[in-house]
Amino acid sequence: MTDFASLLQPDKGQSATSLHPVDKAGLEPWLAGQPDRVRQAVSAQGFKGEAAQVALLPGEKAEWSVLVGVGDSASLGSWCLAKAAEWLPEGSYRLVGASAGAAALGWLLGQYRFDRYKSEPSPKGPRILLTDEPARIEESILLAAATGLVRDLVNLPASDLGPAELESAVREVASAGGASVTVTQGEKLRRTFPMIAAVGQAAEPAREPRLIEFEWGDRAHPRVAIVGKGVVFDTGGLDIKNASGMRIMKKDMGGAAHALALASLVMKARLPVRLHLLIPAVENAISGSAFRPGDVLRSRKGLTVEIGNTDAEGRLILADALTKAVEGEPELILDFATLTGAARVALGPDLPALFANDDALAADLLSAAEAAGDPMWRMPLWKGYHELFASDVADFSNASESPFAGAVTAALFLGKFVPDGVPWAHLDTFAWRATAKPGRPKGGEALGLRAAWGLLKARYGA
Ligand code: BES
Ligand code: MN
Ligand code: ZN
Repeated sequence: MTDFASLLQPDKGQSATSLHPVDKAGLEPWLAGQPDRVRQAVSAQGFKGEAAQVALLPGEKAEWSVLVGVGDSASLGSWCLAKAAEWLPEGSYRLVGASAGAAALGWLLGQYRFDRYKSEPSPKGPRILLTDEPARIEESILLAAATGLVRDLVNLPASDLGPAELESAVREVASAGGASVTVTQGEKLRRTFPMIAAVGQAAEPAREPRLIEFEWGDRAHPRVAIVGKGVVFDTGGLDIKNASGMRIMKKDMGGAAHALALASLVMKARLPVRLHLLIPAVENAISGSAFRPGDVLRSRKGLTVEIGNTDAEGRLILADALTKAVEGEPELILDFATLTGAARVALGPDLPALFANDDALAADLLSAAEAAGDPMWRMPLWKGYHELFASDVADFSNASESPFAGAVTAALFLGKFVPDGVPWAHLDTFAWRATAKPGRPKGGEALGLRAAWGLLKARYGA
């Protein structure tokens, strides 16, 4: 894991290289006051003040400084320093004439690396940003570490992150925060969480399915449940995916990674809640003991589900986990899941689909998303589409036969396991970035995490 802890430090007048933020409109006026050598360097480097552009400026002697293009130099957005942090040489830097604000996070995440499988890891040393906002340091480092945890867990190949390794990752976070862990597997899992057991049974005994839970905090505090889909690899099961559909399915535990990272933020910030984390961890594999199309499962809640498609496995494991979450009588349930391709068709890779059975909760999440620069979009729990996953033999099917509204029917399926009076939000997130942007390399990504954290802080923070 990239260590972000020292990359943001209070400015005590240490020696540092200057960073000058300029936007496109501000470039000409800024250049007007500069000596020829600076103007020439700027034009030779093709610097136009576009967001994330960086140019090196010669000083009078050996010193040099940096010009950074930002979208709007009045209020720096999250990502406008990320490219500079990624690209500049090791050393300490100080912004001139501006505070980093939200851009502090981008400075940190611009230095995220996933190079554990590279024979020659990146040799670059730390780029330290000195800040005149010491109050922002801790929060920025916490958010960067939480994002780094999501990225690392998603980027790990399934060969090195099975259900057991996911359990170890949860135990590590739990022991750092002082949470108590419960893991259910084997015969007890089959008896008490039958749908988690069914989805995971093809991968047994090597990669045993399990429900990983932890609880943290004062029992007197409001109870909040966080649930994450932990499919360490999704082949589709007997309804096997094609090669391109399977290619990035190591990321199908992205919901679990988000849930764990959110839990770690809650604990590190000591938010006054009673936290219940639930991660059903399975591999949706193929073998002679795989669950089959047409099988009927009896869920923990007692509702029966006919398997219309073994590739609609996430909703099965989440249903049993949500049932357990509800039994704790929480005042809020949040779940994260890489649940449907249909959510990506509807909203593309960057916007998690938000479903909520409570308008105030949806509104609060959307405003936290806006404030955090971590967008999402609400979609409807449209009851009329229940009929799309009706079953001839069981209470309902796990998959709709219609090609329409796949993200909605998946969310409606989950909603069958959450009573109306329990405020619940479901984030169908991609957890992946197919093309790099500054501070956001290709690969695992946290999408919706900072928004959810903003919601919890707004509701329960001091
Ligand atoms: N993990 C996938 C969803 C997914 C696929 C997310 C691609 C992001 C990118 C999920 O388990 C799945 O396979 N869903 C199916 C459901 C269908 C069989 C009803 C889907 O979306 O195609
Ligand atoms: Mn699937
Ligand atoms: Zn899946």
